[in-house]
Amino acid sequence: MIKKCLFPAAGYGTRFLPATKAMPKEMLPILTKPLIQYGVEEAMSAGCSIMAIITGRGKRAITDHFDISYELEHQIKNTKKESLLDGIREIIDKCTFTYTRQNEMRGLGDAIYKGKALVGEKYPFAVLLADDLCINENGDGVLTQMIKLYKRYKCSIIATMEVDHQDIHKYGIIEGIELENGIYRVSNMIEKPKNSETSSNLAVIGRYILTPDIFSNIKDTKPDTNREIQLTDALCKMSKKDRVIAYKFQGKRFDCGSIDGFVEATNYLYKKDIV
Ligand code: G1P
Repeated sequence: MIKKCLFPAAGYGTRFLPATKAMPKEMLPILTKPLIQYGVEEAMSAGCSIMAIITGRGKRAITDHFDISYELEHQIKNTKKESLLDGIREIIDKCTFTYTRQNEMRGLGDAIYKGKALVGEKYPFAVLLADDLCINENGDGVLTQMIKLYKRYKCSIIATMEVDHQDIHKYGIIEGIELENGIYRVSNMIEKPKNSETSSNLAVIGRYILTPDIFSNIKDTKPDTNREIQLTDALCKMSKKDRVIAYKFQGKRFDCGSIDGFVEATNYLYKKDIV
């Protein structure tokens, strides 16, 4: 039922300058695959076949990556290198990619709102932030886990993990009541709070299942002091009216939006030989 996955990918990636000057940050490779490909593979194994990407200026490489390169294929045909393209070729064959641009950097909420034209308002959809690379070697990928949960709860689901209290200012933070082990009913959410603003350390991680009423909630959400519309604020609004679930996922998450996390992910996958 959840066939579409939205990938907000319009950010500048300033933390990786100058590498990201002419190349989208989503195309930075962890070993031989760009970050966004890991995300697309996770969505695909969760049953999604429509990948809706919110891009911006200078992001052409993403569109080209998920398209056939006839010249290249011709060049390496019948050589040992041919198999290196098997994975990406399978993605291209099995999925449909749709794109729209976020013209101004107006926050994650605004980016998701731009995606309305791509995912429609009829069915729930997944959202994946490619900066958060999630690996679960022992079982289902994080989106698969969340879609299973959606089938039980039929409401918006947010992936969460506990973080050190001194790091809560880097995340959206969730407050709620634990319904069962690792599953919470959200009662409040705060985007990047100060230490004094919450006692919770449940951080939002870049995986969401959203019901279409997210769009009206985003529309009703005012921009913050940086003129950005936060998805966290729209979800908080939603949680006051309807059930919203936060789910402590199984697996490891790497913050590939930071240099430390990026290096950690690279070393981890290299050692485990996961490519
Ligand atoms: C975004 C969200 C934040 C979430 C984080 C996870 O923030 O706004 O709520 O905790 O992703 O990576 P960003 O990292 O884009 O500033």
